[in-house]
Amino acid sequence: MKKVKKNEFTELQHLLSIKEMDVALINEIFSSADKFLRNNKSINKYDILEGKTVCNLFFENSTRTQTTFEIAAKRLSADVINLDIATSSQSKGESILDLINNLIAMSVNIFVVRHSKPGIPELIAHNIKNNAHVINAGDGNKEHPTQALLDAYTIRSFKKEFSGLKVAIVGDIEHSRVAKSEIYILNKLGTKEVRVIGPESLMPKSIKELNVKIFNNMEEGLLDVDAVLMLRIQKERMRKNTIPSEKEYFKSFGLTKDRLKQAKKDCLVLHPGPINRGVEIDSLVADGDQSVILEQVKNGIAIRMAVMEKMIN
Ligand code: CP
Repeated sequence: MKKVKKNEFTELQHLLSIKEMDVALINEIFSSADKFLRNNKSINKYDILEGKTVCNLFFENSTRTQTTFEIAAKRLSADVINLDIATSSQSKGESILDLINNLIAMSVNIFVVRHSKPGIPELIAHNIKNNAHVINAGDGNKEHPTQALLDAYTIRSFKKEFSGLKVAIVGDIEHSRVAKSEIYILNKLGTKEVRVIGPESLMPKSIKELNVKIFNNMEEGLLDVDAVLMLRIQKERMRKNTIPSEKEYFKSFGLTKDRLKQAKKDCLVLHPGPINRGVEIDSLVADGDQSVILEQVKNGIAIRMAVMEKMIN
């Protein structure tokens, strides 16, 4: 068990959005993740969250985020509750804030919240009665801050400086919370050019205000990029079908080996997951040499450890 000294850096009560984070805090989280990865040769345990309880509250499905938060909390010695919303008393009409207050009475210190409605983690944070912390694990199409942190951290681990990079985010920008958080973090870190590529119908109305270059053509958008982040079509958030068919979508916006040749030779391929093979990405690319998709998942544990460390210390 590793003992870690309390740090004297920026405080972090809640992590709700990248939009509201400052660069110093982002870099502190990266440095702390570096420390956990350096020490991770034999999966160390730390005493940082000893005596604390972390509760995963996932009102929407998850594989990567929930599991990596659980692993991260356990590596920091926290007790972890994964509340099964489907079998909880939510079905009997209990409000989210009553649920939270009951969990606080059980001494939960950190809530990790995913919800299909934008703003729910923020609502909880503003109404919380004690000193408990809230981490947004994805709210509707608004933000997914820890995903953006781990994606930027992964790019940084291969490319070092953001100031010389062109990064493209491809696909369903409108319904993607990852895309929004990603655009904010890449711009905050001083990325030379942030591009979005996708059909007009999947671009949000506010896209022109987000300091990005917009492309509706894959070949043009991928030209000379250093990293490309692919997105899934978020059907669960679409009110109407805005793409003709998955086959047609893949023909125009799927990432294939041929299309990837437009980018720089050492261009990284990222995807937050889950992947829909043959819809937004070809298997040869998803499993190819340039893919860092599983590296992202591994880095997710260190980033989430770093975020929780910063909250408690
Ligand atoms: N990237 C991501 O949020 O994946 P999960 O939905 O599996 O958590």
